Amino acid sequence: MIPIKPAERVKNIHYAIREVVALANEIKATGKKMHYLNIGDPNKYDFAPPKHMTDAVAKAMQNNLNGYSPASGIEDARDAIKRQAERSKIKNIKDIIITTGASEGIELSITGLCNSKDNILLPFPSYPLYSAILGKLEAEVNPYYLNEDDNWNLNIEDIEKRINKRTKGIVIINPNNPTGAVYPKETLLEIIELAKKYNLVIFSDEIYDKIILDDTKYTSLASLTDEIPIVTFNGLSKSYIVPGFRIGWAIYSGPDELTKDYISGVNKMVRSRLCANHPMQYAIKPALDGPQDHLIEMKNILKIRRDLTVSMLNDLDEISCTVPQGAFYAFPSLHIPEDDEEFVSDLIRKKGVVTVHGSGFGQKPNTKHLRIVFLPNEKILEEAYGKIREFVKKRYH
Ligand SMILES: Cc1ncc(COP(=O)(O)O)c(C=O)c1O
Repeated sequence: MIPIKPAERVKNIHYAIREVVALANEIKATGKKMHYLNIGDPNKYDFAPPKHMTDAVAKAMQNNLNGYSPASGIEDARDAIKRQAERSKIKNIKDIIITTGASEGIELSITGLCNSKDNILLPFPSYPLYSAILGKLEAEVNPYYLNEDDNWNLNIEDIEKRINKRTKGIVIINPNNPTGAVYPKETLLEIIELAKKYNLVIFSDEIYDKIILDDTKYTSLASLTDEIPIVTFNGLSKSYIVPGFRIGWAIYSGPDELTKDYISGVNKMVRSRLCANHPMQYAIKPALDGPQDHLIEMKNILKIRRDLTVSMLNDLDEISCTVPQGAFYAFPSLHIPEDDEEFVSDLIRKKGVVTVHGSGFGQKPNTKHLRIVFLPNEKILEEAYGKIREFVKKRYH
């Protein structure tokens, strides 16, 4: 036999978040002390899920609820998601599917919409899964750039200019990974108007909606209209600290006559992939209906870590960091001569501090960034930022 060649469509798939790990592993093997600020998994640090959730899953497994579930998920969990969506004031809900992480909901929803050569408006910087899915579908990424000078907000006029005959939808990530921005209601209303004018489906990724770090009021996009098709993604991974459960969901809302065929198309795929992890679905109802104390604690801790991050990084001439309002990511700008990938690799090699280069998320040409995950405790963060300070001082002064 000759070596098996991968399909052309995987050529352009990059996942920078995991790619830096290969170099980090190499350096760790030399015995260097490492500081990991690169993976958005709260369980790797000092966060754990509420016990009533894990108990519910253990009980489901012991009761042998280990077979397949209904394709869209168990009834109790879908009802709990519906109640939660109604508390967020999402209007005109037409369907809810429980998926293997929000990731699968995103994949099924985009696959159900796009033919090859269609395009979807994606925020840049962006969470890389979206480009990977579009690559797989042989559909196109239509990037719109977020504006760092305006707290990483989006610019509607700029987005409008990018729309063409093959534009089918727009992705909004709110709160945003990697920038930590939370969009004001006015911005969401402008997006809705744009979607209405150009017949676009809005994909609103709200996986961090419960991790709002200031008094900023959070608005779920689909609460602002019942007139257009919107798919809202959410799940247990981040707010309920169980990314390994792989439990997420997609909520389809909008008028029947506009959404009916699309939802029925998506459901063909939902049925053919059988179901999401069954026992883990039993965590959904206790998570959403049960006590939310862990969230208050998590946000208080994250706020301290966010403030430490912003103040220690802004202390350096070569780095400037806007204040993330949600999630647990910062996306500081680098004012350096070399590209950000080189900066990140050298920082791993010389100081053992692992971050991800901004170019791995897509960014405005001629800008350079780092993505930092500020989940680690204050001691680790202080040490890591101390090392970044030494690195920068030695390199540029
Ligand atoms: C913006 C965004 N959407 C979706 C996901 C995937 O979530 P899940 O673990 O539910 O698949 C992530 C994970 O980091 C994310 O940051």
